Amino acid sequence: MRREAEGRVRQLRVLIEQANHDYYVLDNPTIPDAEYDRLFRELQAIEAAYPDLASPDSPTRRVGGRPLAAFAPVRHRVPMLSIRTETDTSEAGAIAFDARVRKELGLTEADPAVEYAAELKFDGLAMSLRYEDGVLVQAATRGDGETGEDVTQNVRTVRTIPLRLASEHPPAVLEVRGEVYMRRADFERYNERQRTLGRPTLVNPRNGAAGSIRQLDPTVAAQRPLSFYCYGIGETTGWNLPATHGEVLDALAGLGLPVCGERAVGPGSATLLAFHRAIAERRDRLPFDIDGVVYKVNRLDLQRQLGFVAREPRWAVAHKYPAQEELTTVEAIEVQVGRTGAITPVARLAPVFVGGVTVTNATLHNEDEVRRKDVRVGDTVIVRRAGDVIPEVVAVVLERRPMKDLVTPAQAPFELPRTCPECGGPVLRIEGEAIARCVNGLGCPAQRKQAIIHYAGRRAMDIEGLGERLVDQLVERGLVHNPADLYDLAEAPLAALERMAEKSAANLVQAIAASRGRELNRFVFALGIRNVGEQTAKDLARHFGRLDALMAADAAALMQVPDVGPVVAESILAFFAEPHNRAVIERLRAAGGWRDGEARPLAGPLTGRTFVLTGTLPNLSREEAKARIEAAGGKVAGSVSKKTDYVVAGADPGSKFARAQELGINTLDESGLLALLEKRE
Ligand code: IVH
Repeated sequence: MRREAEGRVRQLRVLIEQANHDYYVLDNPTIPDAEYDRLFRELQAIEAAYPDLASPDSPTRRVGGRPLAAFAPVRHRVPMLSIRTETDTSEAGAIAFDARVRKELGLTEADPAVEYAAELKFDGLAMSLRYEDGVLVQAATRGDGETGEDVTQNVRTVRTIPLRLASEHPPAVLEVRGEVYMRRADFERYNERQRTLGRPTLVNPRNGAAGSIRQLDPTVAAQRPLSFYCYGIGETTGWNLPATHGEVLDALAGLGLPVCGERAVGPGSATLLAFHRAIAERRDRLPFDIDGVVYKVNRLDLQRQLGFVAREPRWAVAHKYPAQEELTTVEAIEVQVGRTGAITPVARLAPVFVGGVTVTNATLHNEDEVRRKDVRVGDTVIVRRAGDVIPEVVAVVLERRPMKDLVTPAQAPFELPRTCPECGGPVLRIEGEAIARCVNGLGCPAQRKQAIIHYAGRRAMDIEGLGERLVDQLVERGLVHNPADLYDLAEAPLAALERMAEKSAANLVQAIAASRGRELNRFVFALGIRNVGEQTAKDLARHFGRLDALMAADAAALMQVPDVGPVVAESILAFFAEPHNRAVIERLRAAGGWRDGEARPLAGPLTGRTFVLTGTLPNLSREEAKARIEAAGGKVAGSVSKKTDYVVAGADPGSKFARAQELGINTLDESGLLALLEKRE
């Protein structure tokens, strides 16, 4: 037994050290957290059972990452500690924590409940911000808890971190502890852009945050959309320390620091349990990833009394939720054909419970992504499912590739089929685009089905009862080729379909008839024009009023509509130029498919004005500034010309600024732009 334990300990230490190195130093995790935790706990358990196998250099004795040589080391004046993780992921963890705290404080049953603060466990990178006389002077990572890395330059690019505290009389020294993280929407948007540019994507938001902060080039960090939340303090001088943790956070918020609103203060384990439950229920809908909740004794004097054991405070504990990343194997790689012909590779997986559901499929996005990740059949992969996001394959665990050196046909690198698996039509990938498409259009049954499902959708023509299964049958039996055919359907052939009877057939015919004469915006959306979503369809319908007016519009006329740029305009023109589409529309017109309205072009306060943005604005990102201008009816152009009305210049403006001055064009700074938006909004 002992010999075995010894061997396993050696093995575990190597695996864990390797994982630590990949995670902390290379910012390139090779195994999911859940797997890491299992290995770590196994090692802890063996070391506890065989104390003579314990060793001071075991990874169990370490708090976290190692500082990278390239950043200057920062010695933390108050160490940055870790917190104990309640291994019991059931709710019993809160009760066990309360019991321990009460025992340590020498409380008996007769004593009143201890007051606790509960908050979220943000999943990012721990950070210490040092403000001197109210000015941010240094930002450091945790490193090994004693010494971290000076990442001040990168942290300055995080927009939610104030460079100066909002106070007339700031403390002489205030160290704020918190987490740099990336919001899910920011992560998705960033990756989406990277994908279209054919550039590498971020593995997950946590890594996005950690990797960005540890970029040696601050301009790279500046392009990554990061956020920050405070959860505590380090060294302070000249600060009137509040009595409780909850008040500390309130005070930090009062100084203009970002503090998460999702927190609770109350007596006893009941407070903690209620918080744990409420957050578990809403976890998927939070705008950022969390890996659990944190419970803290609220009174700071009691925290001091409780003190620390090893490197962990006795007054705090983390209570984790089930992991959102897990390991599984790839059983097959198939491709799906979408409504616009987009060919998406999909991994069929051995079922795995992750992020609260059993996952059997995960998107691989596109050909380049599969190649970059080099996903092959038989591979062990990290699967991630967080929030409502479609499950995806994050990375391959290459170390576990079966028969590493023996390439059998099933293990060959993935290749996108050259013909559509649904219709045999040609698959084309336009240069510069990430997505390959079946170009057979409605000649492809998969696209036909999707087009009809989309047409009937709740937000489109809203035909009740016309679901996926039924559409499959209608298309496969040749009863329906395009949306116009729906209006010619008779009851008898419908009643003959699987799972249909006379009554349901009659209901369907009725539901189709009821969809006649829907508002133009629904109809335009229902057509499924590429790049025309629900909002654009509304804007187009409002602007043109009648379908004929929309069909007759040229690019310039289309681009008068808010948010319609050259790409959307081109999609619309291409759609209506297609004779097949025009023919279907004429039949839909005859069937009374939609109802025209009146043209009510949206005149925003900035309608008719063209802006050019240059340099970095202090608060608004470029995307935000663009969105605000466009929402007000203005246009944002890429280069300065005589047609430009305003140039909005931030820090380090480029040649556009000089050109604006040359041409005598008005220039604005951010506050000038905001004033313009406000005055006219
Ligand atoms: S308190 C002395 N509160 O979790 C206690 N930590 O191992 C210091 N974390 O690296 C930590 N959210 O970066 C605390 N609300 C929260 C937290 C939190 C995330 C991270 C922290 C630390 C790790 C604890």
